[in-house]
Amino acid sequence: MLFKQQALLRQKLFVLGSLAIGSLLYLVARVGSLDRLQPLCPIDGRFGPRGQDEMPLRALQFKRGLLHEFRKGNATKEQIRLHNLVQQLPKAIIIGVRKGGTRALLEMLNLHPAVVKASQEIHFFDNDENYAKGIEWYRKKMPFSYPHQITIEKSPAYFITEEVPERIYKMNSSIKLLIIVREPTTRAISDYTQVLEGKERKNKTYYKFEKLAIDPNTCEVNTKYKAVRTSIYTKHLERWLKYFPIEQFHIVDGDRLITEPLPELQLVEKFLNLPPRISQYNLYFNATRGFYCLRFNIVFNKCLAGSKGRIHPEVDTSVITKLRKFFHPFNQKFYQITGRTFNWP
Ligand code: A3P
Repeated sequence: MLFKQQALLRQKLFVLGSLAIGSLLYLVARVGSLDRLQPLCPIDGRFGPRGQDEMPLRALQFKRGLLHEFRKGNATKEQIRLHNLVQQLPKAIIIGVRKGGTRALLEMLNLHPAVVKASQEIHFFDNDENYAKGIEWYRKKMPFSYPHQITIEKSPAYFITEEVPERIYKMNSSIKLLIIVREPTTRAISDYTQVLEGKERKNKTYYKFEKLAIDPNTCEVNTKYKAVRTSIYTKHLERWLKYFPIEQFHIVDGDRLITEPLPELQLVEKFLNLPPRISQYNLYFNATRGFYCLRFNIVFNKCLAGSKGRIHPEVDTSVITKLRKFFHPFNQKFYQITGRTFNWP
C-alpha cells in the first residue's frame, strides 16, 4: 500500500517537474528571440511579408527606457557608441498648420516603433538666427535613434514662413512633408484662443475675436489679421509647390484626428512607407479630457497637456458665417491642389 502511494507521488512529481522545465525552456527561448532587434528600413518601404518585418516588442520598451535616458543626456559617449545610436536629420517634417493638431499628430506618430520624435519645436528653418548656426546645429538638436528608425520634427511656423521651403529643399529635396489642417474658421478661433490665454496669463486685456477678424472700416474680413491669413491654406501651399511636388506632401485631417485618430494615422504610416504598427490599443478615449490619449504599453500612457484642447470663446454667428464664406473659394482651391476634400462649410 505504502509502496503504491510512493510510486504515485513520484509519478506526480515527475509530471510537475517536466511541466516546470518545459515552461522554463519556452520562456528562455522567447526572451532570447525578443532580444534580437531586427533592423527595419521604413522609409525605403523594404518590408517582407508580415512576420519577417516584425518590430520586436522590446523596441517600444527601449523607446520609453533606454532612448529616453539617452535623450535626457544621461548616457555616456561609450553607451551611445555601443548601442549604435545616432542623431539623424528628419526624414519627415510636420510643417504646420499651427493649431491644426500638430502636437497630437507628432505624439501619435511617435507610438510607432520606427519613429522617433524631436520633442521640442526646433524652429531651425524659420528663425534666421538658428538657421545661421548651420545644419550640424540642427542635427545635434535631433533625438538619439537607431539607424533604422526615422526622426520627425514639427515646427508649425514653417508652413507660413516665406524662406522655409527653399531652406528645407536645400537640406533634402526629397523630404516628406506633413500638413495637418482643420476647418479654417475653427482653426483661426483656436489660434486666437491661444493668444488670448497668453495675454490673460500676463494680466493683459485683449480685443475680442470679432474685432480682430473683421475690419471695422469695411466690415469685410480682415486679411491682415494673422489668424485669418494662416487659415488661407492654399496661399501658403502654393509657395511650397514652387520647390516640392504635391506627391511629397500628405494632408492630415486635424478634425478627424480628434474624433477618429487611427484611420488618419494609418494614412500617414502608408505615406511614410512604414509598416502599420499603430493600433487601436495605442489610443483610448479619455472622457475627462474629452480627447484620445496615448497608450505605449501596459504601464505607460499619457494625454496631451491641458494647453491642447482649450475651450474656445463664443463668437458672433454672423462673423463665423462671414469668415466661412471668405474661406470657401480658397478651400475649393486647396481641395483641388491636394486631392483631399473636406466637408468644410
Ligand atoms: P484646441 O485647443 O483649439 O482644441 P496644435 O498642437 O497644432 O497647437 O493643435 C492644438 C489642437 O490639437 C487643439 O486645439 C486640439 O483640438 C487638437 N487635438 C487633436 N487631437 C488632440 C488630442 N488627442 N488631445 C488634445 N488635443 C488634440
